[in-house]
Amino acid sequence: MLREPEARDRAAFVELLASPKVHTYLGGPRPLDELEREMPGVPERWPGSFVVDFDGAMIGQVLLRRATEHRRPAAAGKVDLGYLFLPRAWGYGYAAEACAAALDWFDGVLPGEPVVLATQTANVRSMRLAAKLGFTEVERFHAWDAEQWLGQRSPVTPSA
Ligand SMILES: CC(C)(COP(=O)(O)OP(=O)(O)OC[C@H]1O[C@@H](n2cnc3c(N)ncnc32)[C@H](O)[C@@H]1OP(=O)(O)O)[C@@H](O)C(=O)NCCC(=O)NCCS
Repeated sequence: MLREPEARDRAAFVELLASPKVHTYLGGPRPLDELEREMPGVPERWPGSFVVDFDGAMIGQVLLRRATEHRRPAAAGKVDLGYLFLPRAWGYGYAAEACAAALDWFDGVLPGEPVVLATQTANVRSMRLAAKLGFTEVERFHAWDAEQWLGQRSPVTPSA
């Protein structure tokens, strides 16, 4: 289920952001003590920020946000999809199901808008997920000491 973040998700957010495995291709995790200190009690809520809930507990996060500034001109001003799941929830298809549902929501709210996605090419699980969701390559580029992939999902054209 996709829902808004709630105060009871705090421990899962800390775990997600402190996990070295989750951040292997994202520049490394944040220190646990810093997260414990600085994470707000009630997470910020905004349209496009979803907690993925499985059986009443948070297993991940899906974000759709407009990149006002982006290091690639092709992505500037477009809405960007991001996803982070706790490693124990990997390998079951939950990320694909949750992202597809978030994109469906987005198509209803802003019909006709493209969505972009940036990920390291070495992040095989993320690359597979992007392909499954219908993202196709715009370009590859080098940043943060790694090859990055910029993909775009073209807007769904309403059938007549
Ligand atoms: C990227 C990430 C979300 C992918 O998670 P994931 O669980 O591998 O992704 P999916 O939901 O697509 O599940 C894939 C696997 O579940 C398995 N699976 C089981 N049942 C399934 C089902 N009903 N439908 C789809 N897949 C299923 C398959 O083995 C599938 O592997 P495949 O793609 O090789 O076929 C996860 O690795 C992650 O959180 N990584 C850290 C954060 C990150 O790097 N984010 C990218 C930054 S944008």
